[in-house]
Amino acid sequence: MVTAISEISAKESQKVEIRGWCHNLRSSGRIAFLQLRDGTGRIQGVAVRDQLGDEAWESIQRLTIESSVVVRGTVRSDERAPSGFELSVEEVEPVQIAQEYPIGKKDHGPDFLLNYRHLWIRSERQSSILRVRDTIEFAMRDFMRREGFVLADSPIFTPSACEGTTDLFEVKYFDDQAYLSQSGQLYQEATSAALGKTYCFGPTFRSEKSKTRRHLTEFWMLEAEASFMDWRGNMDLQERLVSFVAGRVLEERNRELKELGRSVETLERTAEGSFPRIDYDEAISRLQKAGSDIKSGDDFGGDDETTLTREFDRPVFVRHYPSSIKAFYMEPDPERPDRTLCDDLLASEGYGEIIGGSQRIHDLSLLERRIVEHDLPIETFGWYMDLRRYGSVPHSGFGIGLERTVAWLCGLEHVRETVPFPRLLNRLQP
Ligand code: 4AD
Ligand code: MG
Repeated sequence: MVTAISEISAKESQKVEIRGWCHNLRSSGRIAFLQLRDGTGRIQGVAVRDQLGDEAWESIQRLTIESSVVVRGTVRSDERAPSGFELSVEEVEPVQIAQEYPIGKKDHGPDFLLNYRHLWIRSERQSSILRVRDTIEFAMRDFMRREGFVLADSPIFTPSACEGTTDLFEVKYFDDQAYLSQSGQLYQEATSAALGKTYCFGPTFRSEKSKTRRHLTEFWMLEAEASFMDWRGNMDLQERLVSFVAGRVLEERNRELKELGRSVETLERTAEGSFPRIDYDEAISRLQKAGSDIKSGDDFGGDDETTLTREFDRPVFVRHYPSSIKAFYMEPDPERPDRTLCDDLLASEGYGEIIGGSQRIHDLSLLERRIVEHDLPIETFGWYMDLRRYGSVPHSGFGIGLERTVAWLCGLEHVRETVPFPRLLNRLQP
């Protein structure tokens, strides 16, 4: 008899028990409306004083916003209700009467809401975002498995940097120094040489002093790596992944997209694939034409990415960035050795980079040279260079940021709403 609100449509005219919370309520002297939620959905309960005993009516009068309750009643179809159903309340058992709830109807600022993040996630909008995140995360895993990738988790404690040394979080590791992982890529290069195609999906950490709508200090990343895959195959794989994920969100999360006010056109176009691919040089000249003072050799800022993505109706790949602004491990373009065989995927509508990927250097002496040029501690890369000593092959991979993907597909302003408990430059609480 305990029924999830999401299953209520199959229970018309039947008696059900709902276990959840009262997210809002309104009562006159003889009729009370309880807005109930149970995590799976929302439904309005209607309680009529004359039809209830005094005891049940008294219980209802004690309820406050966010009180936990068990409610029993009969499901009735109701055209005016958003779900098409309401509950005719017969019994109410309060579980706990909530104290005065700090989040009200009035507009609270982001800091206030983030301080109450542990409660804010109960709102319809926030729980919709977290449901879309769930779908995206599972869709990504499902896709990788369908493509034959083996999940091989990378460690979080690491002895060295992957993406440059400026934004590493240091941790004391007994008598040693360790860092929280910025990227699981280097380990994926080892696992893919063992298993062919592998990926990892976990939290990564960057102590970036960036206060932008795109940066968290702890974010989740799926990183794929495949032996014998070149940079072109790498982009094809990324395109299939992103269009698969958009398609899955459309299938599973229609209600949530509506709740978020997200128009589905972007997702539909993304699900079609066929993402345009342009070179870094073309991107620079497009930006200059659009009025930017960017020069060849510069890295893109967030605003540049925003401008670029507005020129396309779906995500766009930018390829072959200069080596000088990219990581040490990227394979040079044989036709232009100052450029790399890399790509960034920029999400549409101004969202910007969600993926960074490349073919990796597979030649031992070139890799050694790059590690030295980048001033990285070569002694910690012994194992990584072994991968070039024992059966080195051309290989490629990429990392896709989960929170940026969720922000884009949900149409959000800021990544801070895409994760249950965001970690930001100035925020470690709650
Ligand atoms: O471009 P990045 O730095 O690439 C790597 O870490 C590679 N080692 C991945 C690989 O090839 N295996 O980061 C990849 C993605 C970015 O495109 C972005 O989506 C996300 O990770 N990302 C962040 N997301 C939120 N907050 C941050 N501070 C992020 N930094 C990167
Ligand atoms: Mg990047």
